[in-house]
Amino acid sequence: MPNYKDLLNAERIPRHVAIIMDGNGRWAKERGMSRSLGHQQGVETVHKITEAASQLGIKYLTLYAFSTENWNRPTEEVEALMSLILTSLEESLYMKNNVRLRIIGDTARLPETVRKSIERCVDHTAKNTGLVQIIALSYSSKWEITNAVQQICRRVEKGELRPADVTEDDIEAALSTNFMPDPDLLIRTGGEQRLSNYLLWQCAYSEFYFCDTYWPDFDEEEFYKAIYDFQQRERRYGKTSEQVSKA
Ligand code: IPE
Ligand code: IPE
Ligand code: MG
Repeated sequence: MPNYKDLLNAERIPRHVAIIMDGNGRWAKERGMSRSLGHQQGVETVHKITEAASQLGIKYLTLYAFSTENWNRPTEEVEALMSLILTSLEESLYMKNNVRLRIIGDTARLPETVRKSIERCVDHTAKNTGLVQIIALSYSSKWEITNAVQQICRRVEKGELRPADVTEDDIEAALSTNFMPDPDLLIRTGGEQRLSNYLLWQCAYSEFYFCDTYWPDFDEEEFYKAIYDFQQRERRYGKTSEQVSKA
């Protein structure tokens, strides 16, 4: 594999990379291990990729860690994932890399211990000015959009807004991602080519990159390769290639 890091164009580093970290269970199963050990190994990849993203100058890294639908997994696995969240938020790593943590999702559904530990890490890293790592926890796009619609309806009910005046900006402001730009690049590991209810609105114009590697085996080199691949693409936003190259 070429050294993709050296091939990267420093002028075209994506501002926001979103990742669907998939394949932990299959990685573990192939090794005769429990699925939970796969998730544990996946945490190592989170640390590696967060550090690599921060060094490249990426500003936002949004990681899908637990979906609304994942609540339907066996209790044992859900519990293992919850306790893994508790132990994996290593504040020293955030501080060392100047990374700020933020969370999106229906955190009210999380056990209180998990919620408290997350809040602590979010507060302690709030002044860090480097990469913003966003963890999507108990998140699904349909949940988020439903919430946004409810917020807007309440504004209409109060007479603050007329239905015909609702804009895309109003919708964006009501989403939990309102503090960040849309993802430039969406990566899904583990071989599946679907969004699984992730950032549906926000990925309207994102570039997609799918790879077969299971998340625990995903590493810096593959991450650089995904970014290199992204840099070879022409983002036209509906225009013609000629228009884009003139701009
Ligand atoms: C992704 O890995 C992590 C979570 C969904 C929590 P999976 O657990 O979905 O792994 P596979 O897809 O079963 O291999
Ligand atoms: C998506 O992975 C959610 C996360 C990575 C957290 P899943 O493994 O749950 O998604 P499906 O079931 O393959 O769509
Ligand atoms: Mg999966």
